[in-house]
Amino acid sequence: MSSINNAGTYKLGDRTVKRMGYGAMQLAGKGVFGPPKDRDAALAVLREAIESGVDHIDTSDFYGPHVTNQIIKEALHPYPQDLVIVSKIGARRGADASWNPAFSAEDLEAAVHDNLRNLGLDVIEVVNLRAMFDVHGPAEGSLEAPLTVLAELQRKGLIKHIGLSNVTRKQIEDGRKITEIVCVQNQYNLAHREDDALIDQLAAEGTAYVPFFPLGGFSPLQSSTLSDVAARLGATPLQVALAWLLKRSPNILLIPGTSSVGHLRENLAVADLDLPEDAMQELNGIAAKA
Ligand SMILES: NC(=O)c1ccc[n+]([C@@H]2O[C@H](COP(=O)([O-])OP(=O)(O)OC[C@H]3O[C@@H](n4cnc5c(N)ncnc54)[C@H](OP(=O)(O)O)[C@@H]3O)[C@@H](O)[C@H]2O)c1
Repeated sequence: MSSINNAGTYKLGDRTVKRMGYGAMQLAGKGVFGPPKDRDAALAVLREAIESGVDHIDTSDFYGPHVTNQIIKEALHPYPQDLVIVSKIGARRGADASWNPAFSAEDLEAAVHDNLRNLGLDVIEVVNLRAMFDVHGPAEGSLEAPLTVLAELQRKGLIKHIGLSNVTRKQIEDGRKITEIVCVQNQYNLAHREDDALIDQLAAEGTAYVPFFPLGGFSPLQSSTLSDVAARLGATPLQVALAWLLKRSPNILLIPGTSSVGHLRENLAVADLDLPEDAMQELNGIAAKA
């Protein structure tokens, strides 16, 4: 029977979640700013995700800002017991929709309280600290001060687990000296494979890797190889891109984003799409050409 259970599970903090999750960023307005065009459609996507068995939702209070979390609360609160909501902090939106670093102790504490209030939670299961040394990709720089603040909020019971986003291997290793790092969320997909070695290391260490932009983000992936493989398998190219991630490493948790129930269904159906080895080999060639 078709079920997202077929994609398997992986450990996230002290919970086990299905590898097929949902990323809520697309539920805010254009540019991840302001309210969505169709709020009822956003509510419907979240409810359908939960009805289909999704137990891992990725969000942030800086989506909107506040809007996405408020929609999640309206759609799903009181939350199913098995639902793990993961949020992220470290940025503040400007009035012009810009993404600005927000790393002071006051910023971080306010961000955690904003998440708690807007999601209607007493404790957040996982909070990712989103590094902003370079907004577009991992760059070295010390995360000691903000992680120490987060670890203190964890001791106070506001956060259960801590993860890192947009980070280097060194930042993960340094972070582990301060607190347990339960997941890493960096950009990664078929065409963007800078983290290949990191993913294998994290898998060996039993740490979840949660790729953002799994479908290519604001410009979804396009490649003739991807289209050819998809046509052969009777799937869409973006379904094949997700299936490739599932097969790439067992510690990869998927959080594809969509504002459409139709796309959500297509994405969740990937749990039943097992890529043959020759298709994997062909798809592996895409990054080399990108
Ligand atoms: N840590 C970070 O810095 C960071 C950065 C970005 C994102 N994230 C997280 O990662 C999650 C995923 O990233 P993302 O949503 O930005 O990018 P994504 O999942 O790679 O792609 C989303 C885009 O693909 C489209 N799409 C989704 N399913 C589709 C389908 N079946 N067919 C055709 N188009 C489809 C969506 O449009 P429609 O709405 O029309 O479906 C949207 O334009 C986010 O929701 C967020 O939680 C984290």
